[in-house]
Amino acid sequence: MELNDPAMKVLYAYTRALSVALDYRDQPTRLHSERVRDLSASIAVRHGLSGADLEAVLIAASFHDIGKIGVPDHILMKTAPFSADEWEKMKRHAEIGSDIIAATGITEAERASKVIRHHHEHFDGSGYPDGLAGMSIPICSRIISIADSYDAMAVTRSYHPPRKHEEIMAILHDETGVKHDPQVMATFYKVIESDSFREMRR
Ligand SMILES: [Fe+2]
Repeated sequence: MELNDPAMKVLYAYTRALSVALDYRDQPTRLHSERVRDLSASIAVRHGLSGADLEAVLIAASFHDIGKIGVPDHILMKTAPFSADEWEKMKRHAEIGSDIIAATGITEAERASKVIRHHHEHFDGSGYPDGLAGMSIPICSRIISIADSYDAMAVTRSYHPPRKHEEIMAILHDETGVKHDPQVMATFYKVIESDSFREMRR
């Protein structure tokens, strides 16, 4: 899936350089971001998004964790559970990422910046940074949140081994209506069960 808008192409190029910088610090984040971009784009199309919304999904999903560039190494690389203070610093990546995209000064970046800011909001209002709930959370953020959760559980992380597809789906099912939007989740089921995503399943 390609970006058509010239301004969005420029935004992608600006931000791509930063994502390479992040890659030098934390390679798993970039690989994860590429998979989340593909999965998010497929959910977005199936959910009926197009035009500026779809472009915002592509940009925001590609760089949703770019704010981790502002998280100190001793937290970013930590394998043990976070202290309350470390967790607060890690959570700041959503706002930092949003600020980075907004700092490009490109008018069209506004939407993607907002989507990044809210990619850890929960449907019931228990997420961060603003505690938004339901439809107040941008649709693009609700989509990325599901793709992000799926991929985070499907791969090895320093703090957990990869989970099997069925196990992840059971967890996501339990989180529907709490963390995730039930309508977007219904679309996600169709996408993840489709042929093109079978190979990424375990
Ligand atoms: Fe994140």
